[in-house]
Amino acid sequence: MNNIFPTDKLLQRADKEKLLGQKSIAIWFTGLSGSGKTTIALALEKELYSRGLLTQILDGDNIRTGINSNLGFSDADRMENIRRIAEVSKLFVQAGIITICCFVSPTAEIRNAAKKIIGADDFIEVFVNTPLEICEKRDVKGLYAKARKGEIKDFTGIDAPFEHPANPEIELRTHELTVIESVKKIIEKLNIA
Ligand code: ADX
Repeated sequence: MNNIFPTDKLLQRADKEKLLGQKSIAIWFTGLSGSGKTTIALALEKELYSRGLLTQILDGDNIRTGINSNLGFSDADRMENIRRIAEVSKLFVQAGIITICCFVSPTAEIRNAAKKIIGADDFIEVFVNTPLEICEKRDVKGLYAKARKGEIKDFTGIDAPFEHPANPEIELRTHELTVIESVKKIIEKLNIA
């Protein structure tokens, strides 16, 4: 990086948090495709909004059609996907916004990279722990069926790995909880409302 001069004259995060009347954080959902990350994120956002809190959701399916539309699902592309998302999340957190990230983020290495970029103090890992059989049965997007037929390669849970997080701050077993219960669990843990 040559000839780049970042400014240090920006208003501080604390100024923005004060303006918004909230503390910002990145809430990082990890889990298989179809595990319920986006469903819970949408319900969480609605609940926080009703409490007067400003949020931003970043979601795999949306980000991958926009800023990351040039990336696929190789290990290197997944890492680059998460690197960019983590950098974007960091900007939102710096702006005082509660940032809700929904990404498969299948390996410890990838999740650690995100945590490192965002900062450990601003990163809450939420493991949406739904068994593969259930995600596959739900198959909301029809992708598991395609992956089983070999029409999609490197599909997480089928022919690409998903490493269970070792120490998530929050674990949501969505097959045992309602969406509301999952949201409640996050809000209680975060102590942000
Ligand atoms: S990540 O692995 O790089 O974190 P990300 O969360 O952005 O993945 O995108 C996952 C979404 O892309 C899935 O929910 C699914 O809809 C879609 N998808 C398409 N191909 C794959 C694949 N090979 N593996 C996983 N998800 C895929």
